[in-house]
Amino acid sequence: MIALHRENVRVFAPATVANVGCGFDIFGFALNEPGDEVRLQVTDNPGVSIAKISGDGGLLPYQAQHNTAGRALQSMLDTLQADFGLEVEIRKKMPIGSGLGSSAASSVAAVFALNALLKEPLSNERLLPFALEGERIAAGGALHPDNVAACLYGGFVLIRDKSTYDIINIPTPPDLYCAVVHPRIEIITSEARKMLKNQLPLQQAITQWANVAGMVIALMTSDYDLLRRSLHDEVAEPDRAVLIPHYEALKKAALQKGASGFGISGSGPSVFAFCKGLPLAKKVGAAIRSVFQENEIGNEVYISDINKQGPKIISG
Ligand code: HSE
Repeated sequence: MIALHRENVRVFAPATVANVGCGFDIFGFALNEPGDEVRLQVTDNPGVSIAKISGDGGLLPYQAQHNTAGRALQSMLDTLQADFGLEVEIRKKMPIGSGLGSSAASSVAAVFALNALLKEPLSNERLLPFALEGERIAAGGALHPDNVAACLYGGFVLIRDKSTYDIINIPTPPDLYCAVVHPRIEIITSEARKMLKNQLPLQQAITQWANVAGMVIALMTSDYDLLRRSLHDEVAEPDRAVLIPHYEALKKAALQKGASGFGISGSGPSVFAFCKGLPLAKKVGAAIRSVFQENEIGNEVYISDINKQGPKIISG
């Protein structure tokens, strides 16, 4: 019998930037905002019942087995052989298909919240597979844990091996900030994956892994010049940039203002730029935004340092 520590809780889980340039499917990091909130209430009826979805989640399904948070919770309840049920409220603060790990934030918030109800909480390593069960709905089969791992663990993560959940946190410079701009268009990740080639010429592969190594060293030694030199992508950006209107102009605007690298956030359409310090991140965010504005594309700008904490309890 699973023992409970409390009967309700409200949790926030952050948006994430996956891929991060050269780290297709292996890098991700957490932002401070936006993020999703999930509130759980223990009930006597077994199973998961979604009572309310608000914010940017208007079209999301209420049937638990078709909802990322619902599916994640059900798989965790099943494994725990829980004799109670859960009533769930989901407050989405970012749209699906934004490239900010929206579905990951909901599943992570859900499993983190259920964990917070338990007298003996599980480790992140044990929670990850449950959150991935939820993400499976959005992924359409092919699971890529970059958003979920970054959201759950917080900080900047390397997914060294997804089959064994070998996740490693990479230290980052304390003054590393990120400007993220979300243009109001939608890109479905499973569609964006179909655009990628299945093979990479050896010379491009060599360039890619040299940049991956360069980026890890840059992050660990606060070498912003090396970060800027390393943040190039041979795998996804060449095929996906066409999905984001005015991509080259956005990149030029960010780098000219002094960003230490620019890329697509996940599969887009959001874009991100790394910057040394908050004031520069604000300027770079404004420069990216102005390119969208000039072309009458609505957008939201988020400025954040690297969120080391990941999900957190808001109340309960
Ligand atoms: N790494 C995956 C992709 C998921 O780029 O398709 C991003 O959210």
